[in-house]
Amino acid sequence: MHWTAHAGTPLQGVLGIPGDKSVSHRSVMFAALADGISTIDGFLEGEDTRATAAIFECLGVRIETPSPSRRVVHGVGIDGLQPGAAPLDCGNAGTGMRLLAGLLAAQRFDSVLIGDASLSKRPMRRVTVPLAKMGARIDTEEGGTPPLRIHGGQPLVGIDHTLEVASAQVKSALLLAGLYAHGETVVREPHPTRDYTERMLSAFGVEIEFSPGFARLRGGQRLRATDVAVPADFSSAAFFLVAASIVPGSELRLRQVGLNPRRTGLLTALRMMGADITEERSGMHGGEPVADLRVRYAPLHGIEVPEALVPDMIDEFPALFIAAACAEGSTVVRGAAELRVKESDRLGVMAAGLRTLGLQVDETPDGATIHPGAMHGGQIVSQHDHRIAMAFAVAAQRAAGKVLIRDVDTVATSFPGFAELARAAGFGLV
Ligand code: S3P
Repeated sequence: MHWTAHAGTPLQGVLGIPGDKSVSHRSVMFAALADGISTIDGFLEGEDTRATAAIFECLGVRIETPSPSRRVVHGVGIDGLQPGAAPLDCGNAGTGMRLLAGLLAAQRFDSVLIGDASLSKRPMRRVTVPLAKMGARIDTEEGGTPPLRIHGGQPLVGIDHTLEVASAQVKSALLLAGLYAHGETVVREPHPTRDYTERMLSAFGVEIEFSPGFARLRGGQRLRATDVAVPADFSSAAFFLVAASIVPGSELRLRQVGLNPRRTGLLTALRMMGADITEERSGMHGGEPVADLRVRYAPLHGIEVPEALVPDMIDEFPALFIAAACAEGSTVVRGAAELRVKESDRLGVMAAGLRTLGLQVDETPDGATIHPGAMHGGQIVSQHDHRIAMAFAVAAQRAAGKVLIRDVDTVATSFPGFAELARAAGFGLV
């Protein structure tokens, strides 16, 4: 599937954004491991999170869908998972695969984890190497990529591990393995990352000590079923925050978006650039801070993105690049080498796409300088990366010609209904 995107009308309206992907993955995993029945509300009906739910069904967990975005999970208890008959397909989801690597390494049975073409190229040694230190046995392909062949029945021991790269996925894999390990598991991070695993394990009754950049738990604990309310995904809201900021005359209100501080680096960056975004009706939803975000068009100026913000906006760089393309003056990104190993090489693919639309982008190994200017139409190769596709749909709203965006099917991994919602707000998008 492809999109043809072009300048539409000023963006207007009140939008509901689908549930958070990170929280949805974890909710189904932890509910599956708990004793008792948990209900999840606001579950993201995306391909990534559905793939995770389907895997737990293969592992013997009963999951009901009484209505869209709701799941009722019949937990099987910490030792209740059954071996899957076939390889378990994580689809496009790095989060699914890396967290499952930690969990399945601790089971008494063997498992094989596979993924789509993009996931099959992503680095897995970042989880398999520290898990091996705990006693896990996981084989990867030669380059450290999936499939992951996990040998069960290995006794695990807790470790005190300092992560090399700031990664919530790696941290979470170790904590999940740590639930089954003998003794304590401690994870330390070079920069604090999203702490949903820690918060949610705690909500499921696990004793876990955590603070930014640090987590510690003891093995042998059980999870107690609880209900989970998933907030709207800030990473999905990001495309509308940027779109309304760059299209003159726009004003959007995004309802009750999750504002976990480890996720909102883009909000800080956009405000530094001069964006007009206010928070209203602030509150808590499922233990997470949420607010309506009201965003109005404002002239933006380029910035040097503070390196300390990078982990807090790791998924928002495609959107940031578009804001930078429409600003006054250049924007500099550094310390973001991780972007090269996301669903695509996001530094390379964003730079190539913006060049196609007529801009100059200077790439470095760990960042880029985006020189803004007038954008014309062109053909964008999304490399099957959902966030690249959505970013260029936003860019097209300021381009002089039509932007053909190829291979947009993966948008359904994180943001089902994006095109419809965008059109309703005023996007030119076919
Ligand atoms: C995620 C962590 C981040 C992020 C991904 C979701 C999570 O990945 O990019 O989209 O849910 O833990 P890393 O842990 O690789 O940084």
